[in-house]
Amino acid sequence: AACGGDNGAGGSQPDDGKITLGFAQVGAESGWRTANTKSIQDSAKEAGIDLQFSDAQQKQENQIKAIRSYITQKVDVIAFSPVVESGWDTVLLEAKDAKIPVILTDRAVDSKDTTLYETFIGSDFVLEGKKAGEWLVGQYQGKPEPVNIVELQGTTGSAPANDRKSGFADVIKADPKFKIVASQTGDFTRAKGKEVMEAFLKANKDIDVLYAHNDDMGLGAIEAIEGAGLKPGVDIRIITVDAVKDGMQALADGKINYIVECSPLLGPQLMDLVKKVVAGESVPERVLTEETTFTQEQAKAALPNRQY
Ligand code: AHR
Repeated sequence: AACGGDNGAGGSQPDDGKITLGFAQVGAESGWRTANTKSIQDSAKEAGIDLQFSDAQQKQENQIKAIRSYITQKVDVIAFSPVVESGWDTVLLEAKDAKIPVILTDRAVDSKDTTLYETFIGSDFVLEGKKAGEWLVGQYQGKPEPVNIVELQGTTGSAPANDRKSGFADVIKADPKFKIVASQTGDFTRAKGKEVMEAFLKANKDIDVLYAHNDDMGLGAIEAIEGAGLKPGVDIRIITVDAVKDGMQALADGKINYIVECSPLLGPQLMDLVKKVVAGESVPERVLTEETTFTQEQAKAALPNRQY
């Protein structure tokens, strides 16, 4: 699509009549992210939307650069999944001044001025953390002994890391037997999950539970646990978030004990929102994704039809 006149949304009206969407993705750090990227690319195609796509390799400065280039290109809509929560006001103001609407997908920003974006579509990460905590509390009901927990946090400063940590902590604090003995970032990747879990295992003799903010870090940690001669899912109980195929397989195999789902399939709803915003229709401030949880038995049943 080429740039042309004004479409009323402040962006360009391409010669082919198509809407141009500039999407600044976080990176390719996890199975979740790969599925999310595919969902966005497939649904843009399906919706007849021209997609300009960039991968920020988990760096905020790269995302800001990408957004600035979408502003220069005069795309119709900018959507992005912010790597971290803070530090977006300046570039969002630049988009607003250029009259290019912005849609937040997946992750939130902490900007006080909510007129800097049209809407925010994604999961309730606090609720995900709470669901993880509630399952754990249920598992140890009636058992008074201390429960030593290690936590693998997502990318420092990201909404899912902040919220999954606080939601979980909020639930388990009701009983002092639950102790988080170590908590560190694994940056949402398998490699870091493995590396940090190895360090946890060296420093802590008695780990009962691992809470990993995503499947990939949990899968990396499983390698570390097996490398230390322990049985994941048995010697150390594991809770993760996402429910991507590899995570679900490990859950069905008994190496993970519980997964809180976070859906990466945001593409179709995002394209609907893009069309509405360009047409000047009103959109809800917040669009929440519907999600469930999986036990080992439920994972076995769901796996054959899992898309990602
Ligand atoms: O923002 C969503 C999170 O980002 C996913 O849970 C994680 O796997 C991804 O990297």
